[in-house]
Amino acid sequence: MTIKRISICTGGGDAPGLNAVIRSAVSAALNRGWECYGIRDGYTGLLEPEIYGERGGIVPLTRETVTGITNTGGTILGTSNQGQPFKRTITDETGQTTEIDLTDKLVAAFHAARFDALIAIGGDGSMAAAHTLYQRGIPVVGVPKTIDNDLHGTVITFGFDTAVSFATECIDRLRVTAESHHRTIVVEVMGRYAGWIALNAGVSGTADVILIPEIRYDIDKVAAKIEALRDQGSDSAIIVVAEGARAVGEKGTDRLRQVAGGRLSGVGTRIARRLEALLDLDTRVVVLGHLLRGGTPTTFDRLISLRFGAAAVRALEEGQFGCMVGLDPPTVRYVPLDVATRQIKRVPLNSDTILTARDLGICFGD
Ligand code: F6P
Repeated sequence: MTIKRISICTGGGDAPGLNAVIRSAVSAALNRGWECYGIRDGYTGLLEPEIYGERGGIVPLTRETVTGITNTGGTILGTSNQGQPFKRTITDETGQTTEIDLTDKLVAAFHAARFDALIAIGGDGSMAAAHTLYQRGIPVVGVPKTIDNDLHGTVITFGFDTAVSFATECIDRLRVTAESHHRTIVVEVMGRYAGWIALNAGVSGTADVILIPEIRYDIDKVAAKIEALRDQGSDSAIIVVAEGARAVGEKGTDRLRQVAGGRLSGVGTRIARRLEALLDLDTRVVVLGHLLRGGTPTTFDRLISLRFGAAAVRALEEGQFGCMVGLDPPTVRYVPLDVATRQIKRVPLNSDTILTARDLGICFGD
C-alpha cells in the first residue's frame, strides 16, 4: 500500500519527549513526500470535531509547526485520558456515568479524513486502543510514552528518564532539609502499579527506604529501619514511596484501578501518620505528582523520542502495521501491539537495581 497522508495523535498523561516524537515523525514523513496531520486531544479531534469550532479537530503538521519543539515539554496536539474510543465515559445531567463504544465512529472519521495510516503515541491505554484500531483495519504504529516505564516490549519508554532525573534532584534537595531539621521526609512519586520511578530515583538519591507496588511493605520493618538509623547516629531519613505501594494485607492496586477513575494518591501521608504513631518522629510528606510530567526532556529522552518518531515512520513505510516501536538496546525494534499490551511491565524482584539497593542497605519494608 502506498502511504501519502498520515495522522498522529498523543494520548494519556503528557510526558517529556512527546513533542520530540512529533517533530521527528513529521520531518521523516515530509521528507518522504507524505502529508501529515495531527489529531487534537487523543482521538477527540476526530470524534468530536465540532467542539473545536473553526480551529478544527485536525491540524496540518508542517515543518514550521514542528520547528523548535524538540526540547519542549507537553504536547502541541493536546492529550486526553478519555482517549479510549472503545471505552468512553459519558456523564449525564444527573451525574450518572455510562460507558459507550465509539470505535465505529472513530474508524469512519479516520477514513472520512482520507488518512492512510496512524502513528499513536501513548501509554498502555493508548497502545490497547491502537491495537483495537489495527484489528479494525487501520494501519497503525504505536510509540511508547509514559513516565511510569510500565510498557512491555521496550526497555524504556520516553519521559521516564526526565521524571527520574527530576525526582532525584528533588530527593537531593529534600535530604538537605531533612538533615537540617532532623526530620523524616516521605517523598511520594507517580508510577501507577509499577515502582520504576521510585526505585531508580530512590537508589540514585540514596533514599533510606524505598516502597514500591511490587514489594508489599510492613510498616514495622520501616519503623525498625528508622530506629536503626537513629542507633547509627542519623536522626533524619528519606522514604521514597511509589503511589501504588501497598502494605501487607492492604487491598491490592488492581482493585484500586477500578475505582475513582483509577487515581492513586495518599500513600505518602498514610505512611507518615503510621510512623508517627509508632515512633517519636517529626515527619513531612512531599508529593511530587504531576511535577514529574512537565519540563524539558533530558538529552536521553530527546534522543530516544527522536529515534522512536523516525522509526515509526520507517515502520509505516515498510508496511509493518499493528506494531509498537520499542528500545531493545542498542537498537529500536518493532514489537506486535498485542505483545506490548498483554500486561504491564513491573520491576522484576531479582533486578540488579533492587539487588544494588539492598547491598547499599536501602530498606524495602519487607
Ligand atoms: O501514567 C502516567 C501518570 O502520570 C501516572 O503515573 C499517574 O498515576 C497518572 O498518570 C495520573 O494521571 P492524571 O493526569 O489523570 O492525574
